[in-house]
Amino acid sequence: MTLTGKTRLAGVVGQPIAHSLSPILHNAWLKASGLDGVYAPFGIAEPRFEAFIDGLRAGSIRGLNITLPFKIRALAVADEISHRARLAQAANVLVFAEDGRISADNTDGAGLIWAFGSQTPGFDPQAGPVAIIGAGGGAQGAAAAFLEAGCPKVRLFNRTLEKAKRVAESLGEGVEAWSLADADQGLQDVIAVINATSAGLLGGGLALPLEATPVDAVIMDMTYKPLITPFLTQALGLGRRTVDGLEMLIGQARPSFAAFFGRDPPDEVDVRHLALNALEPTS
Ligand code: ATR
Repeated sequence: MTLTGKTRLAGVVGQPIAHSLSPILHNAWLKASGLDGVYAPFGIAEPRFEAFIDGLRAGSIRGLNITLPFKIRALAVADEISHRARLAQAANVLVFAEDGRISADNTDGAGLIWAFGSQTPGFDPQAGPVAIIGAGGGAQGAAAAFLEAGCPKVRLFNRTLEKAKRVAESLGEGVEAWSLADADQGLQDVIAVINATSAGLLGGGLALPLEATPVDAVIMDMTYKPLITPFLTQALGLGRRTVDGLEMLIGQARPSFAAFFGRDPPDEVDVRHLALNALEPTS
């Protein structure tokens, strides 16, 4: 890679950042598209997030992906917030304008829907209710994405029902709060189940009665370490189709790349293969 005085700079901010796959994806796309750009990791001290971002208003960087634990704080530093970032109440993309203004967006939801299209072609988010497990930031973003994609009903199942109720209320009509204890009943007619908890479900000591889902339901896990989580293993054992969290990561990176570098990522580079190699170096 040759850097020049005109190199466009973007990156990812998180803590920790060392295991982020985003630099691998974006730099592979940059190389394949021949663009004069670079995408760097920034592992910053947690209390200094706002100061770090504010300093970048002076120029030099085009945009940043935002990852844990800064996605909510990223909204507060922005001058403009997209509709979908507002719905998700979190941002994973900040774009810096020349005048120092910052706009926040959230491409996680689009990445989630893209991953379904990629790994389960023909999946239609409008075809029936969807179950989302969890009520944290990931679950909220997933619920917002499915609503926006025209899903008629999103059921939020959470260990703590009160939290699911609060999120359901903030998202409005179309989202219901359910207790995990009623999963048997609430999974019977869903077209998809998405694990958006921070627990690996089975690994976290919680088993979901996935056998209650229709045989053609799609099971998705936002976690991608390991790629085939205990939850996806359970789904595969029942013969269900699955979508993995790595495909969602790639799906959110694609529109991020376009926002930073002004064009879609090239299709010819197999970033999934590169990411898998970084996740499991032996494969
Ligand atoms: P994030 O913002 O990353 O999505 P979060 O805000 O930390 O995550 O929320 C984590 C989610 O995982 C919550 O819905 C949490 O359930 P509670 O609200 O009941 O705490 C869920 N979660 C974490 N560990 C869990 C476990 N072992 N079993 C079930 N749910 C779990």
